[in-house]
Amino acid sequence: MNETSQDKQTTVGNIDDEILAFTAGKDLVLDLQLAEADCIGSAAHVTMLSRMPVEPPVLTPEEAALVCRELGIIRSLALAGEFHIHNEDQDVHLAVERTLTENLGDLGKKIHTGRSRNDQVAVDLRLFAKGKLLDLMEDAADLAESLTTFGETHQKVPMVGRTHMQPAMPSSVGLWATSYGEAVLEDLKSLQHVYELNDQCPLGAAAGYGVPLPIDRQLTSDLLGFSRPLHNVAHAIQARGKLEYQILQAMGQLMITLSRIAQDLMIFTLPEFGYFKIPKAFGTGSSIMPNKNNPDVLELIRSKAGLVLGYGSAVGHILHAAPGGYNRDLQDAKEPFLEGLATTRASVRILARCVAGLEVIPDKLRGAFDGGVFATDAALALVAKGMPFRDAYHQVKATLSDLENEDPDAAIALKTHLGATAGLDFELYRERIEDARSYTAQGRKHFSHAAEGLLGG
Ligand code: ARG
Repeated sequence: MNETSQDKQTTVGNIDDEILAFTAGKDLVLDLQLAEADCIGSAAHVTMLSRMPVEPPVLTPEEAALVCRELGIIRSLALAGEFHIHNEDQDVHLAVERTLTENLGDLGKKIHTGRSRNDQVAVDLRLFAKGKLLDLMEDAADLAESLTTFGETHQKVPMVGRTHMQPAMPSSVGLWATSYGEAVLEDLKSLQHVYELNDQCPLGAAAGYGVPLPIDRQLTSDLLGFSRPLHNVAHAIQARGKLEYQILQAMGQLMITLSRIAQDLMIFTLPEFGYFKIPKAFGTGSSIMPNKNNPDVLELIRSKAGLVLGYGSAVGHILHAAPGGYNRDLQDAKEPFLEGLATTRASVRILARCVAGLEVIPDKLRGAFDGGVFATDAALALVAKGMPFRDAYHQVKATLSDLENEDPDAAIALKTHLGATAGLDFELYRERIEDARSYTAQGRKHFSHAAEGLLGG
């Protein structure tokens, strides 16, 4: 049986109930995360409008100040969880306009002059992502530091190096930990790259084709603390979605690193290995088996890596079929993007804590060495005395049992060249971590400074 739908009155005309619910989708909830950014972006926009050289002015500076004050109140309500988006609003943009109009009358009706929700949502997402990327990059630097410190502390503890997961050559806990520390530092470079792409202002592009008014796009960009405006107004709108995809891909890189660390830890903490112990607080028990202490945190990091890669894939799929110009499809990229930002950060933070609390069991690590692990080193020792490598290889292969009593500590001390077990440059890592931290500190200074001034304190 067909249910009859009714029309709802909205700011932009009447819309069928069911169609309204379908098209607004999760924006009613998701957009609450963007409310603060929406207020800041709108404050920059009205400030710019009040300086626009037209007669009569769209808004006087005093009127703009009133709007900004009201936007500050909305922001506080939103942060306190007391700002609501109604069905008829469709999204945060029209909810803010409705609230301003309720409280300020005609002034509220003027704020949408020279803009569209298309550039508005684009700037909201960029402002929101900027703060979240700064948080994430700080946390990733902390994780790199945890791994470096752990590696430095245990640099002299031998660990079997593996290929195909089988015992291969002598290695160390220091080499293992800093291999992942260095990977995180490289993932940070990808995050910095997408941070810079994100740090451009789309505002003033309006629907994607600009407006026949003397708006000052450089001014709004400066007011918001962006490094520059996106230039081409059509690109400013089309870059939405593609940007989220790139950010998700950079976060996907980091999540791959995290997941591999988690996977290693799950293996190396098995009773059969026992190299490390995960801090007690990181395990959970079973409802039936009294003996259990499961590495749930690590398992969930592994699954969350899959989710973040999936979110990226979802956005890529949404995007690849979308023609130029704004398309409503872009709205559906919001949820995977917001989820990806939150999931990645939570994973980085919890793993850093886990690594910092890892216990090392040196006896187990040394006990895992069998003679075969020293075979390549033994062949190379013969080479050093003048034997051709292939002859040395066969000689050692024929006498593998002679290697049973080799000393793992001596073996890892012999590899002194750059980046090997006894050649790790921890200072270099610390410098790179500091560079990453000053990068985020720089960004944060710019960002908060700009946002603070706009809403009138
Ligand atoms: N909620 C919408 C989105 O996320 C806002 C933009 C709507 N624009 C439009 N032309 N219908 O994309």
